[in-house]
Amino acid sequence: MNVIKLADLDVKGKRVFIRADFNVPQDDAGHITEDTRIRAALPSLKYCLDHGAAVMVTSHLGRPTEGEFKPEDTLTPVAVRLGQLLNKPVRLITDWVDGGFEVAPGEIVLLENCRCNKGEKKNNDELAQKMAKLCDIYVNDAFGTAHRAEATTNGIAKFAPVACAGFLMGAEIDALGRALENPKRPLVAIVGGAKVSTKLTILKTLAERVDQLIVGGGIANTFLLASGKRIGDSLAEPDLVKEAHAIMDMMKERGAEVPLPVDVVVADEVSALARANKIPVDDVELHDRILDIGPKTAARLTDIIAHAGTIVWNGPIGVFELDQFAGGTKMMASAIAHSDAFSIAGGGDTLAAIAKFNIADDVDYISTGGGAFLEFLEGKKLPAIEVLELRAKG
Ligand code: 3PG
Repeated sequence: MNVIKLADLDVKGKRVFIRADFNVPQDDAGHITEDTRIRAALPSLKYCLDHGAAVMVTSHLGRPTEGEFKPEDTLTPVAVRLGQLLNKPVRLITDWVDGGFEVAPGEIVLLENCRCNKGEKKNNDELAQKMAKLCDIYVNDAFGTAHRAEATTNGIAKFAPVACAGFLMGAEIDALGRALENPKRPLVAIVGGAKVSTKLTILKTLAERVDQLIVGGGIANTFLLASGKRIGDSLAEPDLVKEAHAIMDMMKERGAEVPLPVDVVVADEVSALARANKIPVDDVELHDRILDIGPKTAARLTDIIAHAGTIVWNGPIGVFELDQFAGGTKMMASAIAHSDAFSIAGGGDTLAAIAKFNIADDVDYISTGGGAFLEFLEGKKLPAIEVLELRAKG
């Protein structure tokens, strides 16, 4: 993916408009409970400020109704946190689309929730043109929103004098490209989670590219069904057995593999008090629910990961939130942490597992994108990146 990068531009004295993704979780009192995304935007903001640009940054927060600004839609908590992290005041500007506010070189202002502007979600050209007039350089650093074609993620990039990728966006593009476009082999993907249906496109896309496709959770149960195993009372989607079969066949034909569990951890119920039993996969009874992989399977998968050249991880292997069913995901996490492979991970539950098993420093790249990361894995063109590529062509 060829895009213009912020680091290659002279921003001194320029009006720079940065689209970040500050869609961060807040508690009921409006306090930010997790600020990774704000911290992830700091390199671009600091670069522009240190090089004498007049910086305007905006983001969406939640999914507000356009034209109906409500108190909970405000980016005020973000302005406060940003001010603390940058150690300088961050003014919040409301009603900013038509300009009428000043920003000095070396100053930063936060433009209120861009999704409250009429026309944002429909990527309205008139709105995008007005916003483009506010700046000399447009920077997209919102990878988390790259799968949305909206006026601040796509439209403005068509009309701004220059449109480029910020440091975060650049790093995401580089890491995902390294993992999927030109990977060091063997390329191993781990796709866990409850349902094949929500990840079918990802599974199909990865099946064409990877050498080993490790499936986990309810997804693995559907694959077990497809391979003729009994899965008792486990979560699965019998109507997708055909699809699972097709994926396994497709991979087999080109010498690749979906390594399925040979042993599993079962219980009668999903609860913290449930008694976990480790059994061979062929011994699963009618009342059993498969909630994790067993130790033999974990050892085999660990070996596959140890020999990988590249690892892409999305989704847990078992019900890792409960300790008695966390062993498989923990073993996978540890194997990834110890592997020499280039590793990339993303998606909500995956980040929770990375935090639980404390391996964040040992994964080469952790994506800030949820839906955007998944759509990238699906092989889709992300509209926010596509327009940057177009602009790079001139
Ligand atoms: C996210 O949190 O995944 C991004 O900020 C995108 O938010 P959206 O799904 O509301 O577009």
